[in-house]
Amino acid sequence: MSSPKKRRILLIEDTVPLAKLYIEFLRADAHEVVHCTRGGEALDAAAEMPPDAVILDLKLPDMDGLEVLQALQARDASVSVVIITAHGSIDLAVEAMKLGAFDFIVKPFNADRLNLTLRNALERRTLARMVEGYRKDLDRGRFHGFIGSSPEMQAVYRTIESVASSRANVFITGESGTGKEVAAQAIHRASPRRDGAFVALNCAAIPKDLLESEIFGHVKGAFTGAAGDRPGAALLADGGTLFLDEICEMPFDLQSKLLRFVQTGTVSPVGSGREERVDVRFVAATNRDPLAEVQAGRFREDLYYRLHVIPLALPPLRDRGDDVIEIARFFLIDYAREEGKALSAFAPEVEARLRAHDWPGNVRQLQNVVRNIVVLHDGPQVTLDMLPPMGGPAIGGPDAGTSPCAACGSPAADAAAEDGAVQPLWLVEKDMIQKALRLTGDDVPRAALMLEISPSTIYRKLQQWRVAEARGAGETAA
Ligand SMILES: Nc1ncnc2c1ncn2[C@@H]1O[C@H](COP(=O)(O)OP(=O)(O)OP(=O)(O)O)[C@@H](O)[C@H]1O
Ligand SMILES: [Mg+2]
Repeated sequence: MSSPKKRRILLIEDTVPLAKLYIEFLRADAHEVVHCTRGGEALDAAAEMPPDAVILDLKLPDMDGLEVLQALQARDASVSVVIITAHGSIDLAVEAMKLGAFDFIVKPFNADRLNLTLRNALERRTLARMVEGYRKDLDRGRFHGFIGSSPEMQAVYRTIESVASSRANVFITGESGTGKEVAAQAIHRASPRRDGAFVALNCAAIPKDLLESEIFGHVKGAFTGAAGDRPGAALLADGGTLFLDEICEMPFDLQSKLLRFVQTGTVSPVGSGREERVDVRFVAATNRDPLAEVQAGRFREDLYYRLHVIPLALPPLRDRGDDVIEIARFFLIDYAREEGKALSAFAPEVEARLRAHDWPGNVRQLQNVVRNIVVLHDGPQVTLDMLPPMGGPAIGGPDAGTSPCAACGSPAADAAAEDGAVQPLWLVEKDMIQKALRLTGDDVPRAALMLEISPSTIYRKLQQWRVAEARGAGETAA
């Protein structure tokens, strides 16, 4: 019954000859026994090295035994305390049981009695720990910016938690919109570097010729336009976390410079010729298959292995069961508050539809669907007729990142642009909105930021174009 692992027993007994006898008794089970004669001393020992079980004599010279019991429990709710008591003090032992002591033994007792009680106490402790662990998992519908209680996400939370404390580099993979950036931030926030900076660098969004200086910084005059010294992301992330997003998009020649940085921990700002030491933890992410990129010769194998120390794969939303509903409900409440709408729940058939959808754009697509509903509708409940066409291009369909608005594309606009002719204003606007959506991979809030308009405006426009298209009217001056 007792675990093969050595357990730590704290024995609190002020009569030294008795303590020696008990230690002799306990030898049979080969536990590590720490003996204290005073309550205060025992609490210090427990704080320093938490015991698995405690054997406590209630009559102590410096403290009330019940107080010691309560202090031990306050520190660790699942600690098992066995009370040892003289025949005349059974009332006190019963009192201790009421306060949560595991069991009591009346003096004098033999080795078998003590060992049996202790084994039961340790067993209870193991069970209590397991229950605590399960409850913690079930309770975890939220984790550093993530929503979702599915077993798939619990595994993600556990990985993040267990790697956060180390310095090991993490490589995050997952389809677009699965939360790779959320994961990178969670790793930073759960780590001892949380007070340092989290610096995110999107290798796909920065023009290739600027990327090196963005990472390593530059000195004044390093290239045309370098008007002054500028620290790069590496230096800004010193003491913190450097998030290399879309790492597979990094140009091949820059990859070798990055490799050097990862290997040596030193960077050389462009044009400086000097080396600077920085202390960063690397988290990289991609929605590609990185090994396939290595095999295709687009991604350096040595860099891959340097960064791919701890892999973290984010499951697609369609594999997360009821997380879809949890996330949708959260954003419904959130967006309704933002937009001043009364919507607060989904009709059951709507939830069924959300649950059954395959969400190629993952959480971002779900967010967009909910935002779309909230902007365009009101009422206490979201009904089926309010759902936008979900496979549809306007909300981040399978082709997210290529042509989000393919169905409402406007060859006319392109032709006009080539002509250099003046175009109708609505066409210019539509073109620009589509461009922003394309650039942001259908991220409406981000596109809105780029266009300096509100996301609601984009959702309304998309809706108007859809309606116009359905009517076969083609373009409208919405
Ligand atoms: N489990 C989740 N719970 C709540 N919000 C989430 C969750 N996962 C992602 N999000 C939100 O979804 C959006 C997309 O997440 P994120 O940007 O981290 O995805 P990504 O995997 O980096 O996508 P991409 O590959 O397109 O860059 C963000 O607004 C993020 O806050
Ligand atoms: Mg991302």
